Amino acid sequence: MKSVLNRLLEYKNDSIFKEELEKIKCRKLKLDITDIVPPELLDSLIKEELNIMFVENDYYYAIYNKSNSKFVAGKYESAEKELIISEIQYSLVNLYKPGDYYLSVYFPRKQYMILEQINIWVIMSVIFLIMLLINFAYVIYTLFRQKKLSEVKNDFISNLTHEFKTPIATSSLAAEMLLRPEIENKPKTIKKYANVILDENHRLQDQVEQLLQVAALEAGNLHYRAQNVDIHQLIKNVFKNFEMRIKENNIQMEVKLEAKDHFIIGDKEHLQNVFSNLVDNAIKYTLVNPKINILTRNINGGIMIRVEDNGIGIRKEHQKYIFKKLYRVPTGNIHEARGFGIGLYYVKAVVDHHHGRIALNSQPGAGSAFNIYLPFKN
Ligand SMILES: Nc1ncnc2c1ncn2[C@@H]1O[C@H](COP(=O)(O)OP(=O)(O)OP(=O)(O)O)[C@@H](O)[C@H]1O
Ligand SMILES: [Mg+2]
Repeated sequence: MKSVLNRLLEYKNDSIFKEELEKIKCRKLKLDITDIVPPELLDSLIKEELNIMFVENDYYYAIYNKSNSKFVAGKYESAEKELIISEIQYSLVNLYKPGDYYLSVYFPRKQYMILEQINIWVIMSVIFLIMLLINFAYVIYTLFRQKKLSEVKNDFISNLTHEFKTPIATSSLAAEMLLRPEIENKPKTIKKYANVILDENHRLQDQVEQLLQVAALEAGNLHYRAQNVDIHQLIKNVFKNFEMRIKENNIQMEVKLEAKDHFIIGDKEHLQNVFSNLVDNAIKYTLVNPKINILTRNINGGIMIRVEDNGIGIRKEHQKYIFKKLYRVPTGNIHEARGFGIGLYYVKAVVDHHHGRIALNSQPGAGSAFNIYLPFKN
């Protein structure tokens, strides 16, 4: 408001205005305050000043005489009282003497305006704080995720090294034995060691194959062929491949192939791998008196295959993760079953490709049953 007063002073000292005042003096005996401060000029100066401050029409102003509370110019109707007690008022003594005249301004919404301004700041601070918290939570989440991923990666590398080291060590030991001169004339022993090397080689080949398949699955390069597949034949093949391990581990095996219709359209190799993985798990995770049941049955336009064991089982909280890549139930090294944690991930991907479903039923300490449903038409 001070700038308004300064501008009025400048105006008063302007030579042209002074001339004007002289002319008025000739006509009148005494100059009024409104001669020195023309109301139109005051109005436009105030408007200009307040627009800069972003106050639109919410204001009153007036020039009034403090000694008799008489209003002489301005926009003051119905706000006279407020203008008289307003904190924003300036004496016009420099412009007009005697100094009873005051320029007063009153903002009825001043409090609200301050509140509105405060509100905007509060809202912006809250938004900023929320954004900061979200960022912070995201950073923490990423940190934990990275930690988890790094743990999973380390476990995987340790499993991989172990899985590869064992067959390599075994076959190199067998080769050393073969090189010994004392067994040159013992064809039976030679055959035994050669078989060990061959078996270990097959094991390595299978493991590399499985890793490559999951790598292909990840890259979206897993190729499926659609052929007429006999599910019962695949189960028999798997049974044959595991014959040695079944005998070695004294496993009681029961295979009930009850499905009347056991042909589906699918990929023979991948489906056989599915059953191999399930039987491999059933053997690996059953430590005492192993019993494995395989059952097939026709349901709802498809075939259901169940692989059931009486092994260590899987606790509820782990069940939803076991089909995830690289997930292994933490055992605290209680049992020695090694693996990569990719078998069931691959199984689920193959079943999904055939528009089938896989479900697990398991009780810790009692055993697990994997049920696979494959539709005839997919
Ligand atoms: N029949 C089962 N009984 C108990 N636990 C099982 C069984 N099958 C799977 N699991 C649990 O689920 C996890 C994931 O199985 P998955 O076959 O994917 O991996 P893996 O057997 O550890 O390794 P691999 O990749 O060599 O198969 C296993 O580590 C095991 O903890
Ligand atoms: Mg497995």
